[in-house]
Amino acid sequence: MERYSPILQLIALLILLPYLLSHNLANTTTDLKTDESSLLAFKSHITNDSSQTTLGKNWTTKTSVCNWVGVTCQSRDSRVIALDISNMGLEGTIPPHIGNLSFLVSLNITGNYFHGDLPEKLGKMHRLRIVDFSNNSFSGELPRTWFRNMTDLEELYLYRNNFSGTIPQEIGHLSNLRYLDMGENKLSGRIPSTLSQCSQLQYAEMSNNSFSETLPREIGNMTQLQAFFMQNNDITE
Ligand SMILES: *[C@@H]1O[C@H](CO)[C@@H](O)[C@H](O)[C@H]1NC(C)=O
Ligand SMILES: *[C@@H]1O[C@H](CO)[C@@H](O)[C@H](O)[C@H]1NC(C)=O
Ligand SMILES: *[C@@H]1O[C@H](CO)[C@@H](O)[C@H](O)[C@H]1NC(C)=O
Ligand SMILES: *[C@@H]1O[C@H](CO)[C@@H](O)[C@H](O)[C@H]1NC(C)=O
Ligand SMILES: *[C@@H]1O[C@H](CO)[C@@H](O)[C@H](O)[C@H]1NC(C)=O
Ligand SMILES: *[C@@H]1O[C@H](CO)[C@@H](O)[C@H](O)[C@H]1NC(C)=O
Ligand SMILES: *[C@@H]1O[C@H](CO)[C@@H](O)[C@H](O)[C@H]1NC(C)=O
Ligand SMILES: *[C@@H]1O[C@H](CO)[C@@H](O)[C@H](O)[C@H]1NC(C)=O
Ligand SMILES: *[C@@H]1O[C@H](CO)[C@@H](O)[C@H](O)[C@H]1NC(C)=O
Ligand SMILES: *[C@@H]1O[C@H](CO)[C@@H](O)[C@H](O)[C@H]1NC(C)=O
Repeated sequence: MERYSPILQLIALLILLPYLLSHNLANTTTDLKTDESSLLAFKSHITNDSSQTTLGKNWTTKTSVCNWVGVTCQSRDSRVIALDISNMGLEGTIPPHIGNLSFLVSLNITGNYFHGDLPEKLGKMHRLRIVDFSNNSFSGELPRTWFRNMTDLEELYLYRNNFSGTIPQEIGHLSNLRYLDMGENKLSGRIPSTLSQCSQLQYAEMSNNSFSETLPREIGNMTQLQAFFMQNNDITE
């Protein structure tokens, strides 16, 4: 003898099912709405992508962000994990809203005409492993919170911009960093000795900047390092 008849079980399930489904959907939808509003804020900061261009026409609320050009989601209608808008001829600035893409793992905007400072708020993206902001017109100092917060970072490409100031000591927090390219900027000061704490670093490109003084001796300790480029700086022996 069963305690509850199958029909009662079925009724209970039918009553509960819509609740369970809507609860889950609402949750996912809310999270994806955050990603959508972050990307729409980004779009509104692109100044020369008038609506006739690919991105202007494509990034609309008519479809899920997961269908937008350059956007990759974890799976269908789940969070945004990658953004690649490289070489699209885009001009504009990066708003702090991008920092709300909290599931982002890879961000590639190389080969555009973005300018201005890099917002500290991007340091909220703890999951970032690949960042490529190379070959744009960014300026200002390297944001300290990025180095403090993006501890999963493996590849950081900032070459061919107009960054100035020094490399923050906090770079030593990037214990997973393997590739670092800061070449062709206006960076200056001493290369921090904390760089040697990036124990996984294999490749460092620092050429064509204004780095000065001596190289920290600790760099000789970096067992994974295969290439370290320092041409066209003011380093003394
Ligand atoms: C969505 O649901 C999951 C699982 O119940 C929960 O861990 C997560 O915090 C929820 N997210 C939001 C933004 O409510
Ligand atoms: C946006 O671009 C993607 C990828 O090219 C394409 O699959 C999609 O259909 C486009 N959506 C719209 C609304 O144009
Ligand atoms: C944006 O501006 C740059 C530089 O002026 C130009 O080369 C590029 O073609 C423009 N892009 C668009 C989509 O108009
Ligand atoms: C996203 O970030 C911006 C600026 O950092 C903040 O003002 C805004 O409230 C955030 N939006 C959402 C939907 O979380
Ligand atoms: C970014 O995109 C460009 C162009 O598609 C590509 O050549 C480059 O390797 C990408 N950067 C990273 C770090 O994957
Ligand atoms: C830099 O970006 C411009 C514009 O997209 C492109 O024409 C050029 O080939 C890029 N240069 C390098 C070194 O990637
Ligand atoms: C850096 O991470 C901390 C700890 O998770 C967080 O509270 C803080 O807001 C982050 N900083 C920025 C600028 O996003
Ligand atoms: C850097 O700044 C100088 C002077 O303001 C400007 O002429 C140059 O085009 C800029 N370079 C890049 C890559 O934005
Ligand atoms: C680096 O600077 C040197 C000397 O000013 C210049 O000849 C060279 O073209 C630069 N390299 C790059 C990749 O811009
Ligand atoms: C790292 O290099 C410094 C300076 O050359 C040296 O004094 C120190 O013993 C080295 N440390 C390790 C862990 O190899």
